Formats: sequence, C-alpha cells, structure tokens
Amino acid sequence: MTQKWKPETYLIYEKDRSRPALDLLSQIDLDTDGGIVDLGCGPGNITKIIKDNWPDRKLTGIDISEEMISEAKKKYQKSNICWEKADITHWTSDEKLALVFSNAALQWIPNHEVLFLKLLKNLKSKGTLGIQVPITKKLYFQEAIHKLSSLPKWAKYFENVKQINNSIKVNQIYQILSSHCKDINIWKTNYYHVLTGNSPVTEWIKGTGLTPYLSLLSRPDKKIFLDEYKQLVNNLYPKQEDKKTILKMKRLFIIARKK
Ligand SMILES: C[S@@+](CC[C@H](N)C(=O)[O-])C[C@H]1O[C@@H](n2cnc3c(N)ncnc32)[C@H](O)[C@@H]1O
Repeated sequence: MTQKWKPETYLIYEKDRSRPALDLLSQIDLDTDGGIVDLGCGPGNITKIIKDNWPDRKLTGIDISEEMISEAKKKYQKSNICWEKADITHWTSDEKLALVFSNAALQWIPNHEVLFLKLLKNLKSKGTLGIQVPITKKLYFQEAIHKLSSLPKWAKYFENVKQINNSIKVNQIYQILSSHCKDINIWKTNYYHVLTGNSPVTEWIKGTGLTPYLSLLSRPDKKIFLDEYKQLVNNLYPKQEDKKTILKMKRLFIIARKK
C-alpha cells in the first residue's frame, strides 16, 4: 500500500508537534562518541534540531515516505545531514551508533519486542535510545477513524490499511531494556494542544493517522470521507468559549543507555 504523507499538511501544527520531541531531546545527553540516526524523521525539522545539538556528529534521517524525505532534503540541503528513504522495519546501521532517536514514528511499526532488540543492537556500548510515541488508544479521534472506516461503504477501500500499532507495552519493553541498559528513564505526559480553526482536530489528524486512509480514496470520495469525519470529530471536541479547540494527547517517552 502506498501511504502518501504530505509534509505541508503535517507541518501546519509544527510548533505543537515539535514540543514532545524537544522535551525528549532535553533529557538526552550523550555519553559516547559516534553517529546518530533519526528514525521516521518526517520533513526533517526535528532532525535539524538534533544536528544543531550535536553539529560534529554524523547524522542520518530515515523515512519511508518519498515526499517527506524529498522535503527534508530540499529544506535542509546545506545542513550536512544524510537522508535515506528506508523502512524502519528493515533498517540497520553500517556502524554502531551513539544515539538512536525516534519521535512519533515507532507507533507505525509492528512487533515492538523485535524492534527494540534491533534498535539496541545498532547502539554502541554507552549509546542512547531516545523514543517518543503518541498513545492513541482510547483517543476520541482514533476511535472516530475506526468507527467511520468500519462502515461497509468505506471498509471495502481499507482492507489493506496498516493500522497504527499502538501497543508499546511498558512492562514488556522494560524487560528488554533492563537486560541491556542502565539509566532507564520512562514517562508519560499529557499535552493539551490549543488549536484554532473550524475543524482543527481533523486538520491535525489529516497529517498523521488519516494518511493511510486518505491515500486510498479518489479525490471526490476523500472529500466525502473527510466531511463525515469532521462531523464526528467536531462533536467529540467541542469548541471552548474563545472558539479554540483543546486536543489532549498522551505521549510515552523512553530513554535508556546501553550497558
Ligand atoms: C508523525 S510523523 C513524525 C515525523 C518526525 N519524526 C517528527 O517528529 O516530526 C511519522 C513519520 O514516520 C514515518 N514512517 C511511518 N512508518 C515508517 C516506516 N515503516 N519506516 C520509516 N518511516 C516510517 C512517516 O513517513 C512519517 O514521516
């Protein structure tokens, strides 16, 4: 299935989307020399901040989306960052790294146990793993996607849609981390994004969770699907008195240093 990401849609809420990545970065200090990878780097704005933090290290941004990688290359061509179109599921680094970083991407990857073991394998001793994932389970907008896409008139288009695999189970991942790492730092935080506009939650999710669905629809069907989705979601996220909308997002952060 081709999943067309649109950098311009994703970046509408750049400031709000960047905040968790900056919070994650603020807790990372590197304890060994070596390179860095940013897995699921998207349009590259966070990768650029990583570069600014550690300008002398080799940094590679990896993303499966042609559109995202092209945007990153175009925007940050003078930043001395390597950009690679690749699937995280099959990714492996040529040399062991000082930091494997990933912000808001690993929720798309299945088999987290296998994945985390692989990420750790790609780290040097004393290398750092720094991960943030949104927790979309029981989120109204995620449940609305499920409800709408399961209706018979839409379900026929979405048989092959890869669902967000949102089951990073902290206890399970801790078992893996504790055998290979020290200095394990795990936390969850709620963000209350204050959004403006008519249907801002739909605009937000258009840039992420709706992408696999919208990619499969013709232009007229896309519009109908989005209108139906907006109706559902606008009722679930009523406007505040000042006409703004609060989008509550819970996020899980994991930082660990390999032994
Ligand atoms: C929500 S965006 C996050 C982008 C960036 N990390 C940031 O913090 O702004 C998720 C990104 O993960 C990428 N992605 C999803 N599945 C992937 C996979 N299997 N391999 C590589 N990248 C993937 C998408 O293309 C998208 O750019």
